[in-house]
Amino acid sequence: MSPHPIYLDYASTHPRKKEIANIRDEFEQNSYANIGRWNYHLAESALVAYQDSKKTVAQWIGCDPVEVLYTYSATYALNILVLAIEQNGVIWKGDTILLSLSEHHANIVPWQMLAERVGAVVKFISLDDNYCLDLNDLHSKLDDTVKVVSLQYASNVTGAVHPLEKVREMIGNERLFCVDATQMTLHGPISMKDIQCDALVFSGHKMMADTGIGVLVLWKVLQKSWQSPISGGGAINFVSIEGYEQAGIPERWEPGTPHIIGAVTLSAAVKYLWEMDKSIREKYQENIHFINSSFERIKTRGVTVFHSAQKQAIGVWSFVVRDKHSIDIADAFGEENICVRAGHHCCEPLHTYLGVSGSVRMSIGFDTTRSEIERFFEVLESFL
Ligand SMILES: Cc1ncc(COP(=O)(O)O)c(C=O)c1O
Repeated sequence: MSPHPIYLDYASTHPRKKEIANIRDEFEQNSYANIGRWNYHLAESALVAYQDSKKTVAQWIGCDPVEVLYTYSATYALNILVLAIEQNGVIWKGDTILLSLSEHHANIVPWQMLAERVGAVVKFISLDDNYCLDLNDLHSKLDDTVKVVSLQYASNVTGAVHPLEKVREMIGNERLFCVDATQMTLHGPISMKDIQCDALVFSGHKMMADTGIGVLVLWKVLQKSWQSPISGGGAINFVSIEGYEQAGIPERWEPGTPHIIGAVTLSAAVKYLWEMDKSIREKYQENIHFINSSFERIKTRGVTVFHSAQKQAIGVWSFVVRDKHSIDIADAFGEENICVRAGHHCCEPLHTYLGVSGSVRMSIGFDTTRSEIERFFEVLESFL
């Protein structure tokens, strides 16, 4: 057993980086206060840090800082988005919401609940041989009832990266296009302007920031023309016993005290990723090739791997071993102090499509070393 954990669960959450924790500590010691209370210097410096965070994140995503709305996670961001879509009458009885078979439950269940409430239908686009969105199937499902298309950017099971720019071209500008970029922001910068989606969500903890901070990016024009489905302190112009008026943007979308420290860690993470040496990303790519060829070497020994063969696929591999339960395999890795995950990884429809009830998932990060990968395969081969 290795004395230190070999962490191969980056798709689940990214381990803490000292550099980012230091920035958080410094903020806590020198600038911590609630924002929106401008009467004293400490509050002002907290507000500046919060607003700077949005500027940095906006650059990473290719949008305007006012379009960056902080929530608690990608899951919360999707839930708020779906509620806004319902409240503002985008989806009606008989309409269709298109998702892909590869989606995380966070990008499925809120839509299913919405469809149930208003009498709409959720349909799933199939995948091609690379576990990538099947554009022919998308084309065949695009009828006049389709009002919303919501797709992940990259898969947390197969590493597939979906052709979102082509999707926008195909679906036209009239339909609402939402993107779950949760697995992709670590690999940014990304360009929301190129994708031309209307909304995009992700979680800070997948890209080195704290847990409890998530992002909903929503175009200014939608923020302005839509009522927000959530409200409270800081999100209104006035309240009386007769009623209220929602504040302007972005305030109406961010009621209550936000995760200020989370916002500080998120911008620290983006800066860290921005400044990261190019050679680290190159090493990550080399590790992807090495893992692909190592799986290829053992595939005749009862290992079935679900990983996209695309050049741009991210470092996530799910696999099953003949006659062995995925949980037993992950437990056995755990005994060796190797952190991998077993189950459906919140992607049950995808696992049904793949014809398995669950899989073991290993995922790498920029810090993963060649010797950690070699140890992983040494242990895996001992089970075969
Ligand atoms: C593709 C994808 N979307 C959404 C989520 C949900 O993220 P969170 O649990 O941070 O809300 C995840 C988490 O694994 C994910 O991988």
